[in-house]
Amino acid sequence: MAEMDLQITAIAATDDPLLLPPEKIQWYRDAKIGLYIHWGLYSLTQDGEWTMFLNGIDVDEYAERADLFAGDHFDADELAELAVSLGARYSYFTTRHHDGFCLYDSAVSDFSSVKTGAKRDFVREYLDAFRAKGLEPALYYSPMDWRFPGYFFPHMYHKSALAMKQQGYAQVRELMSNYGVIPVLWYDGGWLAHGGLHFSMKTGWHGRKPGTPGDQGQWLWEPEKLNAMVREIQPDVLINPRSGWQGDFDTYEAGQLYKFIDGNKIQNDRPWEGCDALNAWWSHVPGIQEGRGTEHWIRTTSQVICRGGNMMINIGPMGDGSLDPEHTKIFHETGEWIRENGEAIYGTRGGPFEPGSWGGASCRGDQVFLHILEWPEDGLILPDLGNTFSSAKKLVDGSPVEWEQDQKGICLKKPEHIEPVVTVVVLK
Ligand code: GLC
Repeated sequence: MAEMDLQITAIAATDDPLLLPPEKIQWYRDAKIGLYIHWGLYSLTQDGEWTMFLNGIDVDEYAERADLFAGDHFDADELAELAVSLGARYSYFTTRHHDGFCLYDSAVSDFSSVKTGAKRDFVREYLDAFRAKGLEPALYYSPMDWRFPGYFFPHMYHKSALAMKQQGYAQVRELMSNYGVIPVLWYDGGWLAHGGLHFSMKTGWHGRKPGTPGDQGQWLWEPEKLNAMVREIQPDVLINPRSGWQGDFDTYEAGQLYKFIDGNKIQNDRPWEGCDALNAWWSHVPGIQEGRGTEHWIRTTSQVICRGGNMMINIGPMGDGSLDPEHTKIFHETGEWIRENGEAIYGTRGGPFEPGSWGGASCRGDQVFLHILEWPEDGLILPDLGNTFSSAKKLVDGSPVEWEQDQKGICLKKPEHIEPVVTVVVLK
């Protein structure tokens, strides 16, 4: 699935006038943990949010399903509680995915939960419930829309491509104008199929060849213009990189995230966020992919924190809006670890010790938090970084850890009792 997506890789230019200044990004960098929510018309069939495209469902036939989408068991409070239980401080909700179905009231489209079966504005319900819990609820929005032939063939169906663009601009404007302060706008699909590339026997290539600037369809979308509009309405909103503009932070999704983790690089300069789901699809499918149980999420969260990032874990409510208990269990268990070890997570940055298979470190003020994944029997040895430490304690119970420090580094003796996945030790 991920391969099908054209990922936008824009080069980070720091003198970009659209970029938010660091002080406006501080809250996000400190928040660290987020809940991602994928829910929409596609949730009815439990075969992923790409079902319309991958199963080649006729546009009209797909649209008829909207009357069956009632969301009888969608409870925004329950979702907000799940976010709290995970230890999330912010969240994303799919206001509209690539199928074009809006979960809010759009003046420029009748294809919405407000004008069909459910007759409800789920985006408003979500924002109200999450705000009431003191969270920072943010919005996911995809401007590309499979219902428009212009997405696939923007030259042959130019009017359709322009209509899609107009719809995108109008809907972004609605989301930014009608729902109060929005902390993050998380675009997905700010591109065209094949970048809109088209070959003509007479005139050669139309659009941009892969690898050239604007090759993801920026020539149509004009993301700088779009985001200048966004910032005019919401001066403090953070923007992710998937509109075709570089954005305020990097996103590493699924495979990209594990590749980044394996690189053992600490990225504290440009903010970044890792995200992934319990399954290969983000909307609800039954069961959980092998290797994506609680341990995986605890380990991944710890690895992300030690590399300076934020971690976003995705839940897909079922077609009727209810939550799958097999899925929520993982959020509660992972959240238990996150909340217990919150001191080593919230407000921290990655390092100073280089991460590796042993684990990694996060830090805040004069404290270093070692997140230990593998503790060698004869002690964990870390290099000397010029800091002198005065104490070493396990974070969860405050019990002292035996340690020694000399010019070569620091050696921590393995305690009798270590935690099941990650043991956090606080060095002062
Ligand atoms: C991928 C998927 C898309 C999903 C997104 C979440 O791009 O293709 O369906 O919404 O990841 O980040």
